Amino acid sequence: MTRPFRQMPPHGGVLIDRMLRGELRDAALERARTLPKIYLDRVRISDLELIAVGAYSPLTGFMDRETYETVVEDMRLPNGLAWTIPIVLPVDRETADALPIGREVALVERTASGEDNIMGILDLAEKFTYDKEREAQLVYRTTEDKHPGVARLYRQGDVYLAGDIWLLNRPSKIEFPEFRHDPAQTRRMFAERGWRRVVAFQTRNPIHRAHEYIQKVALEIVDGLLLHPLVGETKKDDIPAEVRMRSYQAILRDYYPPDRVILGVFPAAMRYAGPREAVFHAICRQNYGCTHFIVGRDHAGVGNYYGTYDAHYIFDEFLPHELAITPLFFEHAFYCTKCKAVTTRKTCPHDEKYHIYLSGTQVRRMLEQGIPLPEEFTRPEVSRILMEAVQQRKAAEAAGK
Ligand code: ADX
Repeated sequence: MTRPFRQMPPHGGVLIDRMLRGELRDAALERARTLPKIYLDRVRISDLELIAVGAYSPLTGFMDRETYETVVEDMRLPNGLAWTIPIVLPVDRETADALPIGREVALVERTASGEDNIMGILDLAEKFTYDKEREAQLVYRTTEDKHPGVARLYRQGDVYLAGDIWLLNRPSKIEFPEFRHDPAQTRRMFAERGWRRVVAFQTRNPIHRAHEYIQKVALEIVDGLLLHPLVGETKKDDIPAEVRMRSYQAILRDYYPPDRVILGVFPAAMRYAGPREAVFHAICRQNYGCTHFIVGRDHAGVGNYYGTYDAHYIFDEFLPHELAITPLFFEHAFYCTKCKAVTTRKTCPHDEKYHIYLSGTQVRRMLEQGIPLPEEFTRPEVSRILMEAVQQRKAAEAAGK
């Protein structure tokens, strides 16, 4: 018997559900076949699904101009609720011109086999143009097209379509189905386990010892950990999600108590927007039912675009009541050969020369050269999986030449 408790409410109070089912879905599908179509890219496919399942609560569709403006300028929705990342549907001008306001549009995925998967319907409420450089500067803090999020923004269409959506079909290719838990499901899973306090960990990398350390320090003060790797679109040189998923399962099997951890995937696309994305990641995890969220060094960062702790400082721009989920801030963690433990500057008094830390570039180089990663940096089980994947990719590339 677990004591009764109230679960973390979704952002805005209501878990959004924009999935049509049964006869309503059948009728909408029938109608959608006759509607004008828009083909979605990978980012929009994941955004559509995440709006529909409530991961982006309170959003019910793609943002209109007013919402876009307050989000970009002020990190809030027009009703004042915190929201830091524009969720928008860009198309080119020609496509936009052909679509009448006030009518429905079919949102379609072109599948790998070249068929149409009608994923949803958009009630087209507004079309508007926007300033890409301004969005880049305000959201990504840079206008450089070397930044992967900014590059994507510059490549996309010039007009945003806005309106509420309904989901009729999931994406054609559901990866890692056994780990795909919608917010309503994770909430049920937490309740079944009697977890009152749940910490979420966002990641786009394999779990190294530093990640493991901050997760376990956090786990000491809560009931459960939602290990929630992002598996939507990432940049080319990030480690592919299927390799990461293998590494997560290996490390969970050998180093984590099974009754304290749930592995679930977060199918969103990576924006690399650093601080703003940290707040966005936290809000989404609140919608999944989590009460705490880990923000470590350079969360969702890329290159040198953000300061190491900018993703901590941004939370100070919100009043405590604006974000119900509690961020848990961690300093840069590393292995200290004097402490003989993973630690941070907050608890380790030793000189830097005793610290083992490898950058992503160093890790990639070692794996390319077939050098196993040091145990102080990564568990051997993870190192082996990464090595295998890199060597297989190299062999495939060599065979393809
Ligand atoms: S991210 O893009 O998802 O943030 P990554 O998977 O590397 O990238 O990080 C996952 C989380 O762990 C983030 O909160 C990040 O700040 C944190 N983190 C990564 N490496 C370290 C480290 N060495 N020390 C402390 N926190 C870290």
